[in-house]
Amino acid sequence: MKEKELKFSLRVFENVNELSKEDALLMAAAKNALKDSYSPYSNFKVAATVLLANGETLTGTNQENAAFPVGICAEGTALSAASALYPNVAVKKIVITVKSGTHVINHPVAPCGICRQRILEYETRFNNNIEIILMGEEGEVYSVATVKDILPLNFSKEDL
Ligand code: THU
Repeated sequence: MKEKELKFSLRVFENVNELSKEDALLMAAAKNALKDSYSPYSNFKVAATVLLANGETLTGTNQENAAFPVGICAEGTALSAASALYPNVAVKKIVITVKSGTHVINHPVAPCGICRQRILEYETRFNNNIEIILMGEEGEVYSVATVKDILPLNFSKEDL
């Protein structure tokens, strides 16, 4: 038996001002879209902006449903829009931000497990890494170079 250690590196920015101009603009687009979140049940708004390889950006927000499991995460909305409108174009980055209706979230919030799996599908589909950039309402910004870093030992089409 041997023990294997899996490592990943996280880039931590002190705040949004430390981001590149491109990333700051993507974050601004996501923050601006938070108002479009349909989240009357959780009162928790999430927005995701994707940057495609053709330079287009698309933004999605969480869309909830009275039948709770029917709701769609912001990442799913954005990635599905990208795939529907530009089926042959890779996703380069996804920027995710959140806003609670009850308190200020001052730390980055990471995508749920299902959304990590969704992002992985687009990485494997186009054979490229997708940078994930995360921010709360204020405070630090995290960036990971690939969803594989936050979804170790993943299951993908390579396993089928
Ligand atoms: N949510 C997202 O949109 N993305 C995630 O990665 C985590 C959770 C949404 C789902 C639900 O509408 C609300 O946040 C509270 O769970």
